[in-house]
Amino acid sequence: MQTPRHVAIIMDGNGRWAEQRKRPRLIGHRAGARAVRDTIEFCIDHGVEALTLFAFSSENWARPQDEVSGLMRLFLSVLDREVDELARRGVRIRFIGEAQAFSPDIRKRMQTAEALTAGNSSLTLVIAANYGGRQDIAAAARALALDARDGRIDPDTIDEAMFATRVALADLPAVDLCIRTGGDLRISNFLLWQLAYAELWFTPTLWPDVDAATLQAAFDDFSRRQRRFGLTGAQVSQQQA
Ligand code: IPE
Ligand code: IPE
Ligand code: MG
Repeated sequence: MQTPRHVAIIMDGNGRWAEQRKRPRLIGHRAGARAVRDTIEFCIDHGVEALTLFAFSSENWARPQDEVSGLMRLFLSVLDREVDELARRGVRIRFIGEAQAFSPDIRKRMQTAEALTAGNSSLTLVIAANYGGRQDIAAAARALALDARDGRIDPDTIDEAMFATRVALADLPAVDLCIRTGGDLRISNFLLWQLAYAELWFTPTLWPDVDAATLQAAFDDFSRRQRRFGLTGAQVSQQQA
């Protein structure tokens, strides 16, 4: 049975979960934090090497100010509450996205979490915070352009493999499975480059309701898929024989 080495999740539906209960949207985000804990547990138990979670997109700043500030407070309290336990569980924590946009106290906790867990190896947990796929690709293009301008690389040598080393997650296994909860069938500017050959799995389940059974259904579906990478089904069967 094939298990995904790297799982990426668009954790969507917190707001609707709360609205269905006639509660403020922030209650949904808080309930979503519990689902994050269960998901990390599930991934450790299943031997997943890397888990990338979309926590806050570069577009989410445009939400009502009280929701944004509530999310920032939640981010802070989750970092305070969970990092020590994750460190004990052997989780290596990383962040992708433009961290400069966050307040100094959040940035400090992000740096501490990364430093504290840098030597861990049970699961690499990547939190995408103020992340956007287009921003990621633009930053890679900018870095290569600067290298070319300053004579460190010859622009003629820029190819897919070189570009791939400059986008986020370059040092991790390719994303095998991307899950989106909440019922919408879109990528919402998540990992655009990195999802090129990922298997996509969508569920109407709202993120706070996600549990081990939901994740198991995604993993079971993944294990039944034939990943062809442009080849024919017969070629792939032959390779696997
Ligand atoms: C996802 O849930 C969490 C963030 C974007 C921070 P939403 O807040 O987008 O929930 P819905 O889509 O409004 O239900
Ligand atoms: C995607 O959800 C971002 C996160 C889960 C952090 P959104 O709720 O922002 O996506 P759209 O706006 O419905 O596309
Ligand atoms: Mg949403």
